[in-house]
Amino acid sequence: MQDCRANALSTTSSDAVAALDAATAELNAFHGDPVGTIVAALKDQPDFVMGHVFLATVFATSMDRTFDGYMDRALSAAEALTANANPRERAYIAAARRWRSDDFEGATEAWGEIAVDSPRDIFAIQMAQQGDFFLGRSLMLRDRIARVLPHWDESVPGYGFVLGMQAFGLEECGDYRRAEAVGREAVSRNPQDSWGTHAVAHVLEMEGRAEEGAQWLRGTEPDWTENGLLACHNAWHLALAELESGNPAGALATYDRGILTLGLTQALQLCDASALLWRLSALGHDVGDRWGAVADAWEPRAEQGLYAFNDMHAVMAFASTGRDAAITRLLRAMETAARAPLVNALMTREVGLATVHGIAAFADRNYATALAHLMPVLPKLSLSGGSHAQRDVFHWTATEAALRAGNRPLATALAAERRASRPHSPINRGFAARAAQLPA
Ligand SMILES: [Fe+2]
Repeated sequence: MQDCRANALSTTSSDAVAALDAATAELNAFHGDPVGTIVAALKDQPDFVMGHVFLATVFATSMDRTFDGYMDRALSAAEALTANANPRERAYIAAARRWRSDDFEGATEAWGEIAVDSPRDIFAIQMAQQGDFFLGRSLMLRDRIARVLPHWDESVPGYGFVLGMQAFGLEECGDYRRAEAVGREAVSRNPQDSWGTHAVAHVLEMEGRAEEGAQWLRGTEPDWTENGLLACHNAWHLALAELESGNPAGALATYDRGILTLGLTQALQLCDASALLWRLSALGHDVGDRWGAVADAWEPRAEQGLYAFNDMHAVMAFASTGRDAAITRLLRAMETAARAPLVNALMTREVGLATVHGIAAFADRNYATALAHLMPVLPKLSLSGGSHAQRDVFHWTATEAALRAGNRPLATALAAERRASRPHSPINRGFAARAAQLPA
């Protein structure tokens, strides 16, 4: 049989195919319950290879070992059915196994190869983009979509979602005009396309159009909150836009409403929580006792050694709550991870360890030490994964550290760097004004 884009499937069940098409559309939109859709289909069709593959692959991209058990069950079930699988399904099984072995680069490339061979396989396109995102590969976020785009037009189901992915890639490459236009078109085609909505929010963030960003996200909020799989991250973007437009109380309210209420159950949610509270705290805003719950949720993840990007956010919570023992455990796990042969070792060695030391020093008010750790990693932050908007918190921290250290030349330079891309940001103007007041 074939899915709705004519990709071959080894199943003979039309119900299973319909469930896969539905779950894929849900995942493309980051909306609904794609896992539940597939789990229900597998009850009737336990030999549905692509169903198990879908689950294993989705759990893979959680970037959180808390979900390894779910992934292991799905991947084992898929591997047990390898003899029944077609070549594309076998390629997916191999990709998921590579990811489970922490080979994020190999898995991402494998998903990209599936998309090259089957350019209308939107699941492979999406997973390759997720992999490139976690690896911080800005160019591939754009170019992997460009490889398949000639095979897409509005007659192909899911075309709008591919536009949403293209928009994000264009944005991460700084092509803001095309990114905004393509992103808005994606959202006009599918108002519940949370990824397309998110791509437009990124453009507005990167161009310093904070009030527009807050309006965009507030205006689309009903489409990405209820049953939204990107609800936490888009709420983070909304809070960031509110903070940058001079509304810290609004940012805190958005944190409580849009992030905290989701339960802080996933590492990616915790990264959003940490990044927002850290910015607020660094600006001198009182965040009350909110750090405690975030640090509690990071504690059991301190020794995962999975992904430096997570570790760089975990330390914010530990340092803000005086949890030195947790920082010690985190650093020990990172030092072990730094010796492994795979990509997180590179991330950890080149960026992660220095950043964790820098954040901890900042929290200890050792601003010169914080700068000594943070400044050398700013030029290569993208090695640690994520987006420009996410990684900006570390540049923000370095700027604040330079101000507090009384380092006028560096504070002036970093503030000027920030104002070059976002001249209207009140926060960046504040950084520049404070730098100008430092003794020469
Ligand atoms: Fe984002």
